[in-house]
Amino acid sequence: MDKTALYKLSYGLYVVGVKAPQWFGGCVVDAVAQVDGGAPPILILSCLKNNLTNELLKAEKEFTLSVLPENVDPFVIANFGLQSARAVDKWRNVPHAVKDGLPALQDAAAYLRCRVTESREFTGHTMFFCSVLDAWPGVPVKPLVYADYRQNLQAAAKEAFQKFKEQAKAESFL
Ligand SMILES: Cc1cc2nc3c(=O)[nH]c(=O)nc-3n(C[C@H](O)[C@H](O)[C@H](O)COP(=O)(O)O)c2cc1C
Repeated sequence: MDKTALYKLSYGLYVVGVKAPQWFGGCVVDAVAQVDGGAPPILILSCLKNNLTNELLKAEKEFTLSVLPENVDPFVIANFGLQSARAVDKWRNVPHAVKDGLPALQDAAAYLRCRVTESREFTGHTMFFCSVLDAWPGVPVKPLVYADYRQNLQAAAKEAFQKFKEQAKAESFL
């Protein structure tokens, strides 16, 4: 099997926002799809078992999804996708608003508020079935497509994260 063929499936990129004991948690996810358009609409979201976000979704059930716009700052992806909220308050590093107790990114292309209704375990991931409780349009910009992230933003995200860590290290010596 040539798994690179799977890169041609289309996804967006999203930031989950969920409550955590010390601060808000959440991470970048691409594995999201709408699978029913009824009332409420139903999404599936696949989350790595090792992610803190997985534990938090199981405990809290309710979460936000901020749809990343195509002009997203690559640092946002690095901040939420390359480190764990076990060690860091990710949300304090980015512009956001807290609505009804949950954080959402400023300047997202759209926002959803969701509730986990069921889950199923796979080898490395848990698949969460989620009802969409509410939805809002964000800024009128196209949503970011995962393949475009891989082609145009992945390197910039890694670079932004490296700079961020160096700056944090320098500040800790002051
Ligand atoms: C581009 C990108 C896409 C990602 N997609 C997913 C995904 O679909 N599901 C998932 O569980 N993790 C995904 N991740 C990984 C998590 O964002 C990452 O493991 C994060 O550090 C977990 O943080 P947490 O421990 O605070 O939950 C993705 C990361 C990146 C950079």
